[in-house]
Amino acid sequence: MLRRGAATMVRAGRASPGLRLPGGPRPLGSLPVIGTRPYGGSTAEQGGLAGPALLERIIRVDHAGEYGADRIYAGQLAVLGGSSVAPVIKRMWDQEKEHLAKFEELISRHRVRPTALLPLWNVAGFLLGAGSALLGKEGAMACTVAVEESISEHYNNQIRTLVEEDPEKHAELLELLRKFRDDEMEHHDTGLQHNAELAPAYALLKSAIQVGCKVAVYASERV
Ligand SMILES: [Fe+2]
Ligand SMILES: [Fe+2]
Repeated sequence: MLRRGAATMVRAGRASPGLRLPGGPRPLGSLPVIGTRPYGGSTAEQGGLAGPALLERIIRVDHAGEYGADRIYAGQLAVLGGSSVAPVIKRMWDQEKEHLAKFEELISRHRVRPTALLPLWNVAGFLLGAGSALLGKEGAMACTVAVEESISEHYNNQIRTLVEEDPEKHAELLELLRKFRDDEMEHHDTGLQHNAELAPAYALLKSAIQVGCKVAVYASERV
């Protein structure tokens, strides 16, 4: 079983908005910083989002994210299916399928319109997964670290916003987001354990992928 160190540290910090993760030894490498920006607060227009509009936006963008993650791991496995890391990728992919299935359920239960960009995320996600895997096992793991760090932070922002709005009303969704956030943190740590940092141009690759994640989140919330 994977160690829970990083995820546990994030869980420990979740009740303190704006808290940085504790310092000290970080055996699994750098961890996402829990930011101070409330979810949906990147523009003035979003700042006041609450209630059903907030829920709708969260479900739409998270559904899109899990859909994209599913396609990324599909792309990675298409290239690395015969390699030593295939079982590792497969295990993470299986968890993404569970995440996606849950958000499919929420989309239909709350009658949320999925993002119109799903066809784009289908192709882009697969190409990102396959493209990173073509750089080698380390390239695929670097992609995993970049994406999972972004999505963990994204989930933390949403968790903080929902807690601030009404933790009791959002109890079910909060439980789900915390569970998925922990899963994504494990994927992030798995990537580091499998030598993500040895990928060619790791820092550049990671930054580029994370910019792409931000753009994808921004677009999926709105389109
Ligand atoms: Fe996921
Ligand atoms: Fe993940």
